[in-house]
Amino acid sequence: MMTVSKKTYDLLFRLILVGDSCVGKSSILLRFSEDIFPTFISTIGVDFKVKTVEVNGKKIKLQIWDTAGGERFHTIVHTYYRGKNGIMLVYDITDEKTFEHITGNWLRNVLEHANEDVILMLLGNKCDLDDQRMVSKERGESFAQENGLKFLETSAKTNINVETAVMTLVEDILEKYPESGQASNNVDPAKNKNIEKSICFC
Ligand code: GTP
Repeated sequence: MMTVSKKTYDLLFRLILVGDSCVGKSSILLRFSEDIFPTFISTIGVDFKVKTVEVNGKKIKLQIWDTAGGERFHTIVHTYYRGKNGIMLVYDITDEKTFEHITGNWLRNVLEHANEDVILMLLGNKCDLDDQRMVSKERGESFAQENGLKFLETSAKTNINVETAVMTLVEDILEKYPESGQASNNVDPAKNKNIEKSICFC
């Protein structure tokens, strides 16, 4: 007997989180997808989660990819930029280096390898740690403005702006490229999946 699968969404958007190790990419993803704040999870390679949201009456399936920030994964991580509708560049507001690496490397790398029509967003995570802040909100804002990125400070821990960040990106993609993510462009995400998890000591 043939099984006919019923489409449960109108559009599929692929998003990806990039940035240094330990800035909180996995935590942001888990806060958004499952509303949990995990401890001691580190990504090896890439992973993704799926969540369906509704915007302007359209059911949008989000396939959100999480990447390992560690240096040894950089060569594989950039191969995942292609075909993504939105990219979130994440730094840690308490760690100056993670911001410098966005301005120095991550953005350049993304622009080199991602689709031309990709929408970019800059996230300054761990904003709950304001007393340990090393990167002012103004620096984040002005870098984002200079480079045409949306910007928000987030906290995966205390759940500040995580949903807003993802939904802002989704609305932006929908507004600028209403034709993207049509079912005909969709491929089975499981074919690219390469996941491993390990303990993080950061
Ligand atoms: P890699 O997988 O190595 O690239 O790291 P990652 O960017 O995915 O970071 P991860 O989510 O594993 O978080 C790293 C550490 O930061 C963990 O100890 C988290 O608990 C902590 N962390 C993540 N987000 C926040 C946050 O918003 N606030 C605070 N205070 N800690 C956070």
